[in-house]
Amino acid sequence: MDDISVPSTPSIFSVMTQLANQYGAVNLAQGFPDFPIDQKLLDAVSEAVQSESHQYAPYQGNLALRTAIKNLINQHNGLPISLEELLITAGATQAIFTTIQALVTAGDEVVLLDPCYDCYETPVLLVGAKPIHVELSLDFLPDWHAITAAINAKTKLLIINNPHNPSGRVWTSEDFSKLIDIVNNNPNLTILSDEVYEYLTYSRQHISVRAYDILRVRSVVVSSFGKTLQVTGWKIGYLSAPTNLMQRILRVHQYLVFSVNSVMQDAISKFLPLFNPSLFRTEYQERMMFFREGLSKSRFICLPCEGTYFQTVDYSQISTQNDVDFCKWLIKEHGVAAIPVSVFYESNKDFHYIRLCFAKDQKTLTKALERLCKI
Ligand SMILES: Cc1ncc(COP(=O)(O)O)c(C=O)c1O
Repeated sequence: MDDISVPSTPSIFSVMTQLANQYGAVNLAQGFPDFPIDQKLLDAVSEAVQSESHQYAPYQGNLALRTAIKNLINQHNGLPISLEELLITAGATQAIFTTIQALVTAGDEVVLLDPCYDCYETPVLLVGAKPIHVELSLDFLPDWHAITAAINAKTKLLIINNPHNPSGRVWTSEDFSKLIDIVNNNPNLTILSDEVYEYLTYSRQHISVRAYDILRVRSVVVSSFGKTLQVTGWKIGYLSAPTNLMQRILRVHQYLVFSVNSVMQDAISKFLPLFNPSLFRTEYQERMMFFREGLSKSRFICLPCEGTYFQTVDYSQISTQNDVDFCKWLIKEHGVAAIPVSVFYESNKDFHYIRLCFAKDQKTLTKALERLCKI
């Protein structure tokens, strides 16, 4: 593997979390909630533990869970989907890895939109394909001119992420019109759409690629219960794909994990009908507004936050340090951990932006704000 440039150092998320622990900083770096999860979900887990769901689940996923997901997609998005088009995975990360293994081969090209989440590139390198990094525009929306120019006959996959980590931007219907043009003009292209923050949008509604027939039949969509049910440690999620792509994905999934934790599948299948997307959104919108209101009294400048549980801020009024050094300084001198946005770029482009996670309880956010406002 030495000839493949896969990172051999711990990810920035581990580095910043370790530093945050070392200095007792408020950790707004890693994206995980720090408040109790829904008691009904805990009850569903207890019930599942006492039941008989302890042996291998069906490899495509527990039928009751896939049915609950189908109903959620039907009700929430008004979109049809069949059970055969759903696969339960060990988190979004495995869904992404499996999809790339299944659909991409050596010599292919895969277009990634920077800044992007760190688990897209490595699987591309591991299959011997070439990642082509195209930067989003300065306001973190797709630069359709650059994307169109990057796609050619070798491009197998275009990986998109909407709502977007780290920026919190959400695509418009015009963006989807452009994506449809690209799909129509490139018959070999498949879209891998990472929609793990699908239920977390505020000023602009999330549109799934599944909403457009032409895109649905050419896309794999990835979701995460870690994000939706606020249980990031459970590492469970799912993907949806049209049956021709699903057949190829299942061949990899079968030998990678075979099937996913049966108890958690059982528990989530019982809880999912109780999940209330609008309540979930409202709670996060309140957190987002509280956090932005607090930051407005600081020297940090908030960029737009239309979705996700991340707030990107510009610190150029405070320091000229590069963003990695700034984050280390922020932990050591001011006790708040953040993620530098440059690490999401292949080019390590540094705009003096850092990403703060507001999936935290009021006490944590208040403590962080007190510290941030003193800088
Ligand atoms: C954009 C994005 N995709 C995928 C993941 C991974 O999700 P999971 O924990 O379900 O593997 C994350 C987690 O932070 C993410 O932010």
